[in-house]
Amino acid sequence: MGEEIKRAFVCGHPVSHSMSPVIHGYWLAHHNLTGAYEKVGVAPEQFSKFITSLQETGFVGGNITIPYKESTFDIVSRLDDAARHIGAVNTVWLEDGLLHGTNTDWIGFASNLDQFAQGWASADKAVVMGAGGAARGIVYALIKRGIGEIHIVNRTRSRADQLAASFSSLGAAKIEADDWPTLSKSLHGADLLVNTTSLGLDGNGEIPDISGLSPSAVVTDIVYSPLQTPLLKSAAKAGHLTVDGLGMLLHQAVPGFEKWFGIRPRVTDELRELVIAEMDKRH
Ligand code: ATR
Repeated sequence: MGEEIKRAFVCGHPVSHSMSPVIHGYWLAHHNLTGAYEKVGVAPEQFSKFITSLQETGFVGGNITIPYKESTFDIVSRLDDAARHIGAVNTVWLEDGLLHGTNTDWIGFASNLDQFAQGWASADKAVVMGAGGAARGIVYALIKRGIGEIHIVNRTRSRADQLAASFSSLGAAKIEADDWPTLSKSLHGADLLVNTTSLGLDGNGEIPDISGLSPSAVVTDIVYSPLQTPLLKSAAKAGHLTVDGLGMLLHQAVPGFEKWFGIRPRVTDELRELVIAEMDKRH
């Protein structure tokens, strides 16, 4: 009797843009596994049925993308610490017949910096631009990796306040919400700047003055298309070490693949080049 094929999915609405099939497909082939990773587009009225019927449809688990990360949080039977704090789920799997959920974005973020900005976590002060869903994963990562002082700066101040408040009980970090117009003051002496906004892209606003950063500060963007965002370009020009967001996408995929297929895959240069080539093809 042949071995049963393990099937995983990425589910979103729409889902056609997802790069996850490229990543998991590469690892399945690299490890010579007979598994499958499928794109599943599900309309909102069908989503809860889809996510609660994985066993019957033969899926071992999968990735959840926009707009279902928060609704999955409400549906799964078991949430881990990361998902609970981030308030959203991007990876699910069946275990003992129950649907489990985690959020691996924070691991992707931290591993990307581990790869390209070794020692980043010794930063005393970090500034996060933006206070949306993506920023939650970043703040969680910064706290988990022991950053002592975190400033959240957002155009809409109330969202920064809410984000700071919701993480204030976790860990020893000092977390502050700052006003957007005084960003340059917040940047003063910071060792790490993380952009989670679409600022500077497609004519969306002017990129801010970052001259207050510590000269050795690392600047990273979670946007990966384009790889060199206007902020990263300007930071590189000013002599900062910059890290693009593609590595976050690649590294966040590792724990899911390991859960579903039982092998911990590696983020290689070859994988990175493959995804870049695919992004170029789609443009
Ligand atoms: P995501 O879940 O990807 O983080 P989001 O919730 O839409 O997406 O958040 C987008 C972030 O980019 C927000 O912090 C937004 O600021 P507001 O909360 O004030 O809307 C920020 N953003 C988008 N365009 C911006 C701009 N031109 N200037 C400053 N911030 C901007």
